[in-house]
Amino acid sequence: MSRFTIPPIASSEITPEAVWLSRRKWLQQVGAGAVALGAGGFLPAGAAGEATEPLPATPNPDYWLSNRQTSEKDVTSYNNFYEFGTGKTDPLRHAGSMQTRPWTVTIEGEVVKPRSFDIDDLLKLASIEERIYRLRCVEAWSMVIPWSGYSLSTLLKQVEPTSKAKYVEFVTVVQPEAMPGLNDRIIEWPYVEGLRIDEAMHPLTMLVFGVYGKMLPNQNGAPMRVAIPWKYGFKSGKSIVKIRLRETMPVTSWVGIAPNEYGFYANVNPTVPHPRWSQASERRIGDGFFAPRVDTLMYNGYGDQVASLYAGMDLAKYY
Ligand code: MTE
Repeated sequence: MSRFTIPPIASSEITPEAVWLSRRKWLQQVGAGAVALGAGGFLPAGAAGEATEPLPATPNPDYWLSNRQTSEKDVTSYNNFYEFGTGKTDPLRHAGSMQTRPWTVTIEGEVVKPRSFDIDDLLKLASIEERIYRLRCVEAWSMVIPWSGYSLSTLLKQVEPTSKAKYVEFVTVVQPEAMPGLNDRIIEWPYVEGLRIDEAMHPLTMLVFGVYGKMLPNQNGAPMRVAIPWKYGFKSGKSIVKIRLRETMPVTSWVGIAPNEYGFYANVNPTVPHPRWSQASERRIGDGFFAPRVDTLMYNGYGDQVASLYAGMDLAKYY
């Protein structure tokens, strides 16, 4: 199964600050004044990520966090979206050419009513709420983000999963003209992720259309992605075009590349280290390079809501 033993998601961890700093310096140089620097972030003028349409959302107090939110600039300029390259600023620089309309999301497999939805109908399917979620990436950086959307379960109930629907697979878009990263063949495209059905139906699992009260910028997974806040960030597939309900566990992208390093469950767990680095602490993006790291919380702090899903499971085995 494993075609690559050293996945690039890990190599970026080796010197993340240095890489970020050198890119920042590079952008300052080539941008010649066209670079707007923010506290810990940067956004080339005219690049993807600016001025998406507003998306009115009602704050949901059940998902409010007192933590300081990560700046919008950091959330929209420090990304993982390998279809646009493996560098953290590659999505910002390249994702602007991705076409997000027309956009259809097909739901198929173990459902009574398979069907396709136009993205604009999905936006109207339920009221759009704002939920502040923690995001913890496997590379040990974290953010606090106000997402806009609604629970994935709202959509799945529309198609009526059958009793054989044990897993949900998310298939994301492939647009060769717009995605220079596809040439890297790091991943067997499309990028695929998945959840167990009870994880997918959990109210915390969110279908996301917007961030910071606006439609998602392309680099954050426009026009629709998922957010699963108790799992490492790679579980949150971006720019989804297909949702397939299945009886068998899908082989997800990172499990296919390095199953010894990335598991299907990928629950945030400070007690189970990645084979090549600890997961016990994290660096909050925006705190500055010299700020002390903070302790990572079990299930990223969502244990009260989700620990029961894994009762009796050996979490070191099912990582
Ligand atoms: N979805 C697609 N289609 N392609 C990707 O490369 N990267 C994942 C996830 N979803 C990825 C993806 C990873 S590794 C992370 S950490 C999150 O997106 C990052 O989301 P963000 O850039 O909005 O913070």
